[in-house]
Amino acid sequence: MAKYLISGGNSLCGEIDVQGAKNSVLPLLSAAILTADDVIIQNAPKLTDVTNMMRILRALGAVAEREGSLVRVSAKDISSHEIPVSLAKELRSSIFLLGSVLARVKKAKVAYPGGCDIGLRPIDLHLKALREMGVEIREEGGYVYCDASGAEPSYVTLDYPSVGATENAMLLATSIDGVTSIANCAEEPEIEDLQNFINAMGGCVSGAGTPFIKIKGGLPLKGTVFSTMPDRIEAGTYLLGTLACGGDVTLKGAKAEHLSAVISKFSKWDCKINANSDRIHISSNGNMGELGVIETKPYPGFPTDLQAEICTLASISKGSTIIVENLFETRFKHVPELIKMGANVKVRDRVAVFNGVDRLSGAKVYAKDLRGGAALILAGLCAKGDTEVNDVHFVERGYEDIVAKLTRLGANIKKA
Ligand code: EPZ
Repeated sequence: MAKYLISGGNSLCGEIDVQGAKNSVLPLLSAAILTADDVIIQNAPKLTDVTNMMRILRALGAVAEREGSLVRVSAKDISSHEIPVSLAKELRSSIFLLGSVLARVKKAKVAYPGGCDIGLRPIDLHLKALREMGVEIREEGGYVYCDASGAEPSYVTLDYPSVGATENAMLLATSIDGVTSIANCAEEPEIEDLQNFINAMGGCVSGAGTPFIKIKGGLPLKGTVFSTMPDRIEAGTYLLGTLACGGDVTLKGAKAEHLSAVISKFSKWDCKINANSDRIHISSNGNMGELGVIETKPYPGFPTDLQAEICTLASISKGSTIIVENLFETRFKHVPELIKMGANVKVRDRVAVFNGVDRLSGAKVYAKDLRGGAALILAGLCAKGDTEVNDVHFVERGYEDIVAKLTRLGANIKKA
């Protein structure tokens, strides 16, 4: 299995181009099969999750080809309504292909996705929303069989603002004549990107970014060329890395408004974080401040996808830091690895309490999931001595060219 070898202690200086958002391009690829016309998605990051999603589109009968930083999708015919089990297991978020397959061919079959590295990842909210839209759903033998031939314009209320369930309901609603409303929906920026994409295809969606979305369905959807929004979690990861290591970094393409809950944590730190419409600049002398209490919440709250990374900062921040993970059941698997590097932390259920130490020490550690792996890389970059981060395939699911980007910023990191 691949690993990264890191020699810690270098500050990070320079600028990087923020990748297209993983958590936007995946639903956009799903939405691309809503039309039989050609669709071009620009700024599509080169990630294993994207490659796997393209494989699933091809298994459904679509053409999905990468041409540099763009992906071209042509779903003239959808020859299968079954999302392949092996690929669905590889990519849990393939579940929101349900909405677009049902929109296109009115039926779908998907294996019930099992739990994964960060929690149970149930799909009850997805199924409840689809049922409220009139979809007939049978769960049998580990499979979910859906029939949307009787789907009608509906008023759907989500019990929890699930990102994926919001996206599935939006995708299906585009095919239902009349107005479908979704209340208590997710407000993430990626939902707005999906709304803008569907509208660029000739759809009529409004309200994304608020708890209430309306979709006027039944409109003919045509091909489009669309550029994916910047990845706020990648940008946040490099922002936190610069604070941990010290340095002066510009994140080109990043939108500060997508990271306001994160940036506000550093208002009292001895660092400068400023931004204009399409970049964030961070300069830090590496002096750590206090973090206090951090609770992950749905957007616009502190993002769960930066919880692992801020654990690395909490390991070396002044005083005690309390981190509460409110979204996923088991998203502290990076903590035992940070302890190997000298972190002083206790975890009970969804709460981690850190007592900051002066500096972490290099060690041999193992990534257990995507964001936990990123946290260990940040730890290696700021630690004393050498760190070996193993199982980096997790990291390469979500971070394009991370070794090249960090090397360009002055880090001493190599892939082995
Ligand atoms: C999306 O996952 C993201 N993935 C996740 O990013 C992100 O952590 C998450 O939203 C929250 O922001 C993609 O967009 C591809 P949810 P999703 O449905 O849609 C529970 C990363 O690292 N829930 O909003 O699966 C669920 O268990 C990944 O980039 C149900 O109970 O998240 C979780 O506790 C990780 N029943 C909470 O809701 C359901 O039917 C939030 O899940 C669905 C979800």
